[in-house]
Amino acid sequence: MFVTLEGIDRSGKTTQAALLTEALGPQTLLLREPGGTDAGERIRGLLKDPATDLDPRTELLLFCAARAELCVRLVRQALDRGHDVVCDRFVDSTVAYQGAARGIGTQLVERLNEIAIAGCLPDVTVLLRIDPEGAEARGQQRLAEGGADGIDRFEGEGIEFQRLVAAAYDDLALRHPERIAVIDAEGNVAEVHARVMEVVKRVAA
Ligand code: TMP
Repeated sequence: MFVTLEGIDRSGKTTQAALLTEALGPQTLLLREPGGTDAGERIRGLLKDPATDLDPRTELLLFCAARAELCVRLVRQALDRGHDVVCDRFVDSTVAYQGAARGIGTQLVERLNEIAIAGCLPDVTVLLRIDPEGAEARGQQRLAEGGADGIDRFEGEGIEFQRLVAAAYDDLALRHPERIAVIDAEGNVAEVHARVMEVVKRVAA
């Protein structure tokens, strides 16, 4: 099974992706986007660096390039061997961030995504839904506790940007109800994990 987790910045996806991977067992492959491969991790560094000024189209192509590497080198092989794959962000992030929030447009992004994934579509996508204001408060708390590793290029865009991303995710969930399951990401880690597991068990059954 191929499961992806999506949500705005600080929605708690990364924690939930790790917990889900553990719950699915030791053969499960945990990946993150952008990243996962050697080239993908280098592209990630470039994309997240606040000192790097990138045109939105360059940004889009870099995300898709990292994704193509990830799919061809890791996701496809793992699925062919019968292993589960959990990915922290995937195609929907590009539609929401580059297509909507950066204003490039959904159609072009979807076409490029198709080329990048070459048929590797998730069986289910869990969208962790949280209010942008709530996510911002979580970020401030993490910064105050010294637990955040600095503000990256996207987090530095501010609340308006996160609102556009959140609206785009809602729209995606309406357009793809057969694949995207929306869950409430408010509450403690264990509560949200239980909601993620409920979705994944339903799909696996
Ligand atoms: P994160 O997954 O560690 O939060 O960092 C990745 C950042 O990159 C996050 O702010 C969302 C952004 N992003 C895009 O803009 N488009 C994409 O396609 C992906 C995968 C991530």
